[in-house]
Amino acid sequence: MSQAGACQPPPDVDTDDCLREYRHLFSPDILAGKAAFITGGGSGIGFRIAEIFMRHGCQTIIASRSLQRVLEASKKLVAATGQRCLPLSLDVRQPQTIVAAVDEALKEFERIDILVNGAAGNFLCPASALSFNAFKTVMDIDTVGTFNTSKVLFEKCFRDHGGVIVNITATLSYRGQALQVHAGAAKAAVDAMTRHLAVEWGPDNIRVNSLAPGPITGTEGYRRLGGKFAEKASRFEMIPLHRAGNKTEIAHSVLYLASPLSSYVTGTTLVVDGGSWLTSANDFPALLDVWAAGATMNQ
Ligand code: HXC
Ligand code: NAP
Repeated sequence: MSQAGACQPPPDVDTDDCLREYRHLFSPDILAGKAAFITGGGSGIGFRIAEIFMRHGCQTIIASRSLQRVLEASKKLVAATGQRCLPLSLDVRQPQTIVAAVDEALKEFERIDILVNGAAGNFLCPASALSFNAFKTVMDIDTVGTFNTSKVLFEKCFRDHGGVIVNITATLSYRGQALQVHAGAAKAAVDAMTRHLAVEWGPDNIRVNSLAPGPITGTEGYRRLGGKFAEKASRFEMIPLHRAGNKTEIAHSVLYLASPLSSYVTGTTLVVDGGSWLTSANDFPALLDVWAAGATMNQ
């Protein structure tokens, strides 16, 4: 690989479709024989994680509220990779729906080895305008939902034979990102949960890590947080790698954390953001402008 190649993104597509081309960097059978349960696996980053796992021999269960969304996603994933993919509906805020989904999955798959907690909700909103229920809703999906799903998988699978958990978080809390008190607090709590569960469940051969992406193109998060809008204002010049990331880059890092390559890694957060949080402006007035204009405009 050339020097420049070390920072070049792999190809990606901005829609929730599979990659048109793919070159393996990891061993293609690194997850052979494994099954992964991926919440939020029907769209965005979660979809690409499912695809990259499947391209490395993994079978997947993709789960979110919309059965239609995961059904359509699973068809694409199976067609592109030839692996099995089971689409299931659940709401991570409702433990009984998680129990039902995991029971359903265990009828189809002998065991589940990997959990990716990708389900989340977010929007730009200043704390002063945020309703009590809006704050609670994001905490419920991101933080409580991650605990609920982890606990169900622990009780039904991982306690018996070990496993790997990867929680998708964010860098929002590191510098108190403006208009993000709800998501920043929720994801910071998940990073704490990662450490607590790594300590308690390590003796059961369970590794627990977080992965915190930066701005990732072709995602709902990027659209909601005003990615294109911010890009026009040259915000990405602030990022050390001078660009946003793509979904495949996140999926590759999740693959590392889910695979035996990281067999001695637990209780940590892998930041995958091109150095973004270290240097990007936390510009309250500019973000207020984006919010006032509607973050999804000009997409
Ligand atoms: C302010 C809002 C709001 C908004 C909803 N609410 N959207 N407040 N600004 N844009 C308020 C509502 O008014 C309500 O409060 C409360 O939040 C719950 O809203 P519901 O619509 O009833 O909730 P629900 O149907 O459960 O939907 C959850 C959701 C929704 C988060 C609001 O947007 C959703 O389902 N999102 C999933 C997809 C998503 O967000 N993807 C992006 C993830 S990206 P009141 O008081 O009126 O009852 C991400 C990036 C992180 O996390 C970091 C990037 C760098
Ligand atoms: P996304 O496509 O909207 O992903 C969120 C997923 O969560 C959706 O598939 C959604 O599906 C599911 N979901 C939401 N609420 C749920 C609930 N209550 N129960 C079950 N599933 C639920 O957005 P994304 O941008 O790719 O984000 C994926 C992950 O990356 C999130 O954890 C996000 O916080 C994180 N992240 C993203 C960025 C970024 O730049 N995009 C940056 C940092 C972190 P349904 O609507 O069908 O439920």
